[in-house]
Amino acid sequence: MDKKAIEKAVEKIKKSSHLTAFTGAGISAESNIPTFRGKGGIWDKYDPIILDIDYFKQNPEKAWPHIKDMFYNVIDKARPNPAHYVLADWEKEGLLKAIITQNIDNLHQKAGNKNVIEFHGNTRDLVCMDCGRITPVQQADMSKNPVICPHCGGLLKPDFVFFGEPIPEKAMKESIFHTQNADVYLVIGTTGIIMPASILPYQAKQNGATIIEINVTPSEYTSKLTDIFLQGKASEVLSELNRQLLRN
Ligand code: APR
Repeated sequence: MDKKAIEKAVEKIKKSSHLTAFTGAGISAESNIPTFRGKGGIWDKYDPIILDIDYFKQNPEKAWPHIKDMFYNVIDKARPNPAHYVLADWEKEGLLKAIITQNIDNLHQKAGNKNVIEFHGNTRDLVCMDCGRITPVQQADMSKNPVICPHCGGLLKPDFVFFGEPIPEKAMKESIFHTQNADVYLVIGTTGIIMPASILPYQAKQNGATIIEINVTPSEYTSKLTDIFLQGKASEVLSELNRQLLRN
């Protein structure tokens, strides 16, 4: 790990007045949740069409078995890793104002963060495509294919954003607020290629924020807008930043 870059990042984080974290699948990689891209990624095994909203509506019985394998059979066993816990500590200490996550694995909340903006929704709930009611996953019969609404018998859809669906309005509004007001913006474990989420770090930069990026490899952002690039695994880099912060 680049010692100088770590020191620079610690300085910025310590002096920040509005620290926002923007996270992607890479922060959960060490919780054994596969990323979407890169070696062994979800899109190596599954066709993204499965998460296209029109395909899902027309072929729910084809899509649901894969969706269970991709997410539900993996996420409930997953536990937060040190990267998640450091961000939870930083929120408790009043240092971190918000997390904007692209992830639907609920690990930031499991680690203890309260202000988590789920830009792509979540896997905790299912929404009925007919009556619109929300059913928590625990209250649905997930053995069924397709999974149906316990209230009206309609088709249940995971409450996360499919390709072709809009971002939840509240999540968009809150994300813009914490992006526009951030003076330091952590970009953790994301390829930075999926719109509109991937626009947020550009907006932060435009508003004068210092971009600190944590990734095992350079991303779309690294050469274009990252001010401090901390190459390494999220759990190791965030643990080191936390150690240095506690020292100062
Ligand atoms: N620590 C830090 N970064 C990591 C780690 C790790 N241990 N392991 C992998 N990474 C990085 C990879 O280098 C890559 O840049 O995490 C990133 C994972 O990229 P993606 O799988 O594309 O995940 P993400 O950027 O979150 O995808 C965005 O795409 O398919 C959609 O909706 C889905 O939210 C997702 C969106």
